[in-house]
Amino acid sequence: QLMGQQLGMGNREKNLAAYFQIEQCIIVPGNLDKQSRVITDLSRATYETLDFLLPDGKNIIAVMGGTTMAAVANRFDENLSRNRELFFVPARGGLGESVEIQANSISAKLAEATGGKNQALYVPEQVGKETYGFLLKEPSVKKTLDLIKKANCVIYSIGDASHMAQRRGLDNEILALLEDNAAVAESFGEFYNAEGEVVYKIPRIGMQSSKLTTIPSVIIVAAGESKAEAIKAYMKNAPSQTWLITDEGAANQILKGI
Ligand code: G3H
Repeated sequence: QLMGQQLGMGNREKNLAAYFQIEQCIIVPGNLDKQSRVITDLSRATYETLDFLLPDGKNIIAVMGGTTMAAVANRFDENLSRNRELFFVPARGGLGESVEIQANSISAKLAEATGGKNQALYVPEQVGKETYGFLLKEPSVKKTLDLIKKANCVIYSIGDASHMAQRRGLDNEILALLEDNAAVAESFGEFYNAEGEVVYKIPRIGMQSSKLTTIPSVIIVAAGESKAEAIKAYMKNAPSQTWLITDEGAANQILKGI
């Protein structure tokens, strides 16, 4: 309500939130695919949402990676730490992204911008099951995983399935599986069909999507007309406490079809 009123787009936001059965939706003007300035409003809305939702005192905020999250992180400042102690952690281990858009980097960036703390999760991409078992017992890995378990807020984005499959460098067998199962969305290292069902999961340590329902503040930032189908699919089963921050490009496209 707060943001919706400020941005003067209450009705569409209410309709979208009701359709997805989520707590709140914020629609910023424009279409990110065509206007890069939209990211500024998305960032501001994300910042304001956090400022509105996060309680005073200690907060553990788990973040995922991606270009949206990297851009959003640029707008954060120390004011968010007023009356709060902020601890940022990457929600999951590496997902084959380039360094600057990995969850580890975003988490570090947010901690630096807000004067908060950061706990990295250093786990290599390609390790066998046995090595993984050992890694999980490593004190630094364990420390991060314990923090992730206690997170009271999580922020992440949603991507188009085929775009994300390419970017994450998945092999041909998996690409075929995604096609056979009509994957349209990707989030959290998981691929979803149009019904919002998981059809493939990249096995990585850290927060699992099944845990999302127990986290008090879930914030999703995903925008641009090209992401409309992916957002619509993923949001079908999104946790009810979710705040979705999007733009007119995606929202109008979704609202057209409902
Ligand atoms: O899981 C979804 C992706 O992280 C979204 O990535 O923000 O670069 O589109 P993006």
